[in-house]
Amino acid sequence: MRKKIIAGNWKMYCGDPAKAAALAKGVIESCACQNRVEVAVCPPATALAAVVETCRGSSVRVGAQNLYPKDEGAFTGEISAAFIKALGGSLAILGHSERRTYFKEADDFINLKVKAALAHGLTPILCVGETEKEREDGVTEKVVETQLRGGLAGLSADEIGQIVIAYEPVWAIGTGKNATPADAQAVHAFIRKLLGSLASADVAELIRIQYGGSMKPENAAELLAQQDIDGGLIGGASLKAESFAAIIQAAL
Ligand code: 13P
Repeated sequence: MRKKIIAGNWKMYCGDPAKAAALAKGVIESCACQNRVEVAVCPPATALAAVVETCRGSSVRVGAQNLYPKDEGAFTGEISAAFIKALGGSLAILGHSERRTYFKEADDFINLKVKAALAHGLTPILCVGETEKEREDGVTEKVVETQLRGGLAGLSADEIGQIVIAYEPVWAIGTGKNATPADAQAVHAFIRKLLGSLASADVAELIRIQYGGSMKPENAAELLAQQDIDGGLIGGASLKAESFAAIIQAAL
């Protein structure tokens, strides 16, 4: 039985440490007194320390939204997995479509990030998903397969087993349009089958595959009821403790 994982991607919002700590406190108060669903929040790097401090002693995990795949060096503006770990972070969102689109991140670079995260004991949340054009062209599975094969290249079955996958159709992110539960389920089932061949049937059965893209209290229960949807990666609706808590409730 896979434990569902609901993670908030705060994106470039709530970067003020005091405001971020207040939101994290709200999340803890409204949803952390249960252990049936894993809960995580991923604030901007500027608020990571404050949110880690706020979440200390609670079951809410804290993660980063990105990392650079070297431990340290002359990489102006970047943050390493080692730094995130030292700060108390325990996961990292990698390969988000916004990073693929705006910062031209390619699968081989994302693969290095996944490896760096694993090397430092961070749980990677590896994001994959097709654009609207790709869906219309009928190449969703091909796109997702390329992203998964690229992002997971060179990893052992055991390492793949430590990763969380987030299926985020790009056309559903921040648009209010979500994939229908049946469409999302079909891609999740495809991903699990592919993980079976990239790792093993046992590992594929254990891996959590989150859905992301306009998940909100109104649609969460139906999406999360699908057989292969094991949680959510939430953008907009994670910025208010009440709506985030309602999604966690839907996962219970
Ligand atoms: P929204 O929930 O705002 O659509 O964002 C989804 C997302 O990109 C999470 O990583």
